[in-house]
Amino acid sequence: MKTKIEEYLREVDDFKADSIEKLEEFRIKFLSKKGLVPALFADFKNVAPEERKEMGQLINKLKGSVQEKIVSIKEGLETSPDVASAHLDLSLPAHAPLGSRHPLSIVRNDIIDIFSRIGFTVSEGPEIEDDFHNFTALNFPPDHPARDMQDTFFIEKDPDIALRTHTSSVQVRVMETTQPPIRTISPGRVFRNEAISARAHCIFHQVEGLYVDTNVSFADLKQTLFYFAKELFGEGTKTRFRPSYFPFTEPSAEMDVSCNICGGKGCNVCKYTGWVEILGCGMVDPNVLESCKIDSKKYTGFAFGMGIERITMLKYQINDLRLFFENDLKFLEQFKASY
Ligand code: PHE
Repeated sequence: MKTKIEEYLREVDDFKADSIEKLEEFRIKFLSKKGLVPALFADFKNVAPEERKEMGQLINKLKGSVQEKIVSIKEGLETSPDVASAHLDLSLPAHAPLGSRHPLSIVRNDIIDIFSRIGFTVSEGPEIEDDFHNFTALNFPPDHPARDMQDTFFIEKDPDIALRTHTSSVQVRVMETTQPPIRTISPGRVFRNEAISARAHCIFHQVEGLYVDTNVSFADLKQTLFYFAKELFGEGTKTRFRPSYFPFTEPSAEMDVSCNICGGKGCNVCKYTGWVEILGCGMVDPNVLESCKIDSKKYTGFAFGMGIERITMLKYQINDLRLFFENDLKFLEQFKASY
């Protein structure tokens, strides 16, 4: 038995393996239930009592060196790049779950797409604005309530610096630097000091539009927005205009579309009127053009502004605006876009 064990010890010592499979064969040969080490232990009862101590130690030594050998070869194989990559199939398709666009981004892109088709460019501007671009140039009288702390997040006083309350400020910036014809829309984030509820948030998104040229009339405004409503909500959509007030437009209006949920018959979304309000609009006040160094005798223009949240809620029948900001995948995964 002694010579047999010594032979095994030498074999273990000389053993080399370049693959996990060969190493596994080695393990099975020595350590599995029917392997050589258990066989030696089984033979142990036949060993003469005076040799038992020595044989016992030898068998244990063999078992120990087999185990050590396995661990050390395994470590070498795992760190060797060849063998590691041999177990990776790089051609397998990835299993990463696909993300989807946020519903607000889908609708913003839809709106941009619709206006791009009729020649509107996209302009952007800063979210932190001065009083001139957010209010003064837009014909807000000095004591207008919208300048009040109620609505505006001020960052500095004297001179006033605030988070923009609408993207009309971007249009002021465009008019300051560009002479007509101007046809542009400005999508972006806006901020108002409002309590968060199912219908309002202190941060929301707008798309505002501006068209300034010679002979721009209210008929142009109506047709442009009618086209927009039909593109966004579907061919059968009707529009109506109600008189309204904004400091920067005269005359001003609010546009309603026929309720896309009940088709105008009346439901709880349109509060049984058949109509839902989607935007504010009007002819640019000549004072605004003059503030931006555009000749108001030569040029006229129209402007409009809408909240993306509101339009998205209508389009997808979402009844709580807070869902847009919660990052809940169960909600977000329902929206798919082709771009
Ligand atoms: N700026 C207005 C708002 O934020 C929207 C608007 C834009 C209204 C242009 C009329 C014309 O509510």
